[in-house]
Amino acid sequence: MTSLVHLTRNGAILWIEIDNPPVNAASQTVRQELMNGLLAARVDPSIEAVILCAAGRTFMAGADITEFDLTEIPQPDHSDVFNAVEALACPVIAAVHGTVLGGGLELSLAAHYRVALASTKLGLPEVKLGILPGAGGTQRLPRLAGVRAALDIMTGGVPISASKAKQLGIVDVVVEDGLRDAALALAVKLIEGKRQLRPTREITVDASTIEEGFFSSYAEALPPPDKGGLAAHAIVRCVKASLDLPFDEGLRLERAEFNVLKDTPESIALRHIFFAEREAMRIPGLPRDTTRREISSIGIVGAGTMGSGIAMCFANAGFPVTIAEVSKEALTKGLRTIQTNYESSLQKGRITNDEAQRRVGLISGVTDMLELRDCDLVIEAAFESLDVKRTICKQLGGICKVGAIIASNTSTLDINVLAEATGRPSDVVGMHFFSPAYVMRLLEVVRGDKTAPEVLATVMALAKTIGKSAVVSGVCYGFIGNRMLEPYLRETETLLMEGASPTQIDRAIEKVGLAMGPCRMIDMAGVDVAAKVVIERKKAGALAPDPSYRAVVQQLFTLGRLGQKSGAGYYRYEGRTPVEDPEVTAVCHQLAETHGIERRDNISDSEIVERCLFPLINEGAQILSEGIAYRAGDIDVVWVNGYGFPAYKGGPMHMLAYVGAAQIRERLAAYASIRGNAFGYWDISPQISGGEKLSLS
Ligand code: 3HC
Repeated sequence: MTSLVHLTRNGAILWIEIDNPPVNAASQTVRQELMNGLLAARVDPSIEAVILCAAGRTFMAGADITEFDLTEIPQPDHSDVFNAVEALACPVIAAVHGTVLGGGLELSLAAHYRVALASTKLGLPEVKLGILPGAGGTQRLPRLAGVRAALDIMTGGVPISASKAKQLGIVDVVVEDGLRDAALALAVKLIEGKRQLRPTREITVDASTIEEGFFSSYAEALPPPDKGGLAAHAIVRCVKASLDLPFDEGLRLERAEFNVLKDTPESIALRHIFFAEREAMRIPGLPRDTTRREISSIGIVGAGTMGSGIAMCFANAGFPVTIAEVSKEALTKGLRTIQTNYESSLQKGRITNDEAQRRVGLISGVTDMLELRDCDLVIEAAFESLDVKRTICKQLGGICKVGAIIASNTSTLDINVLAEATGRPSDVVGMHFFSPAYVMRLLEVVRGDKTAPEVLATVMALAKTIGKSAVVSGVCYGFIGNRMLEPYLRETETLLMEGASPTQIDRAIEKVGLAMGPCRMIDMAGVDVAAKVVIERKKAGALAPDPSYRAVVQQLFTLGRLGQKSGAGYYRYEGRTPVEDPEVTAVCHQLAETHGIERRDNISDSEIVERCLFPLINEGAQILSEGIAYRAGDIDVVWVNGYGFPAYKGGPMHMLAYVGAAQIRERLAAYASIRGNAFGYWDISPQISGGEKLSLS
């Protein structure tokens, strides 16, 4: 069997190199072989220094997350291995590069010295998996970086740069290149100078700036434990212990907290999303080595909110972008929006002035679409109207060079129709960005019937390059996300007509953990946008003959209540604060009368949650059974990264597995009998109406 840890002697220095591609995760074999290497060093007095390093693109990126599903993580324990590193009688240097994360950073912290390449990112992202650093991180990091910095790094889970790590005392030496030479030079210096060992555990945590009540006020600012904050609160307890308890007792507390957290529903859900995001990149029948087209320049049609946001996504990743708009005014407005957005990022300290200038400089504007002829990828981001988009696609089919990919940012329309309009449907794919496009991580990639495999493979790889979480959807109304949104919004509006208030609905949904309830969400996205979708679908004969269907949004639109942007929608706005508005109550009352809907004052929060979320989940199951989504996990990724579904709940399909098909089926059937099912709203998807065991993966 090939070894995952290589030992090489270089005079008095032992190199221990971890070689477990792709990310050198600390699997059981790695831990065991590391332990063997450390034992070899311990019993050999001729070894005067040890250098820990890793082969490939990164130092260890953490524990092997797949092991957390086991009832017990197999021996040897991470902490025992890392303690053995620290206990060696000769200096140990960690030479790190790439992404030094989780257990990888904890291993480095247990070494006596750390040398890093300047491009290295270091972090303890465990909180994002609903756990805490469980191999000494909560005890060693405060000793090196101080309590506040350690807490920020661990509760935020965001990696820091090597230079920041040096500034904080986490790293001793940073080099632009020649990592191994630098580690070797340090080892030689340490041997020659008979420099003492420097076990991190022996450092006293600096408590001088920690005032009374510090930890409780720090904890108060975190998300509450029942809103995804369980792990962050446990981190605070452990860091406090690093001040209050001897090192080994602190480690024991950390271990106990870790063992509890890893089995919580929150952590299981977050791990599900971690792997689902990666699984979503794999497309059945499309080998990983599928040829890809070269993409180095981007064209965008439309400088509106979507077009300018998409342009920023690509410029942020270093691509030159040309935006085409029909009128000079619209183009200038779009380019100004981009400039303003970058200025705001600059003011918030998110990018440097040079970076802002560089990004702005990558975006240019034209008023003639012909100028997009040399672009490798052209994305149309025009107004959501079939006629408009079809005309643009037809033009692009003639303008774009041979081999260029033509994408549409449509959120609901039929990609196959747009693809045919270009006259070259194999070059066409849907790229549905979410607003604001430069912020939202989700990208729905819509695979048309004739989309060429290499076009799909290219766009998926490109999505990763620009930092998006991509999910492939088949062609249907609204694709995965917006299609599931429909029954959710339908029930929201029916509940409003039955007597629930926008606040009550939003609060009930937000209590489940969704970032925003449906009424606030539509007010932000635009009542006009939402209403036009309903009106268009009605015109196209795509809706059931139900006159009450989403009557509220249409009426609000008629009244000019367009949402936040017009100061009123489902709510009235005082600044950005939503306030209940009697006018909306009156609208709902009147619509209920018109459509013969009985008003009630006994609508409970649980009814709201069941009626809004269970049909949404049912639609997800239907999407799966139709093959529109490849996997349940893909649907969860869409909802977590695009619609504010809480990652710690794992997405709607994960929720289905948790709540249980039987329960959801029973509730859907109950509402069908209470509300009637003339329009098939409560029909149960075969994925849910089948046996107890769901095949959702
Ligand atoms: N365990 C198991 N598998 C892992 C893994 C891990 N820690 N990290 C990555 N992988 C797998 C991925 O699932 C993926 O597998 P696939 O190719 O079969 O889909 C493969 O490695 C490559 O990963 P990415 O596609 O994510 O590669 P990138 O280059 O885009 O990103 C990375 C690399 C930044 C290291 C990213 O993978 C990452 O963030 N990994 C997780 C890091 C992390 O959370 N570490 C903490 C783990 S918990 C821990 O250490 C507990 C300790 O305190 C005891």
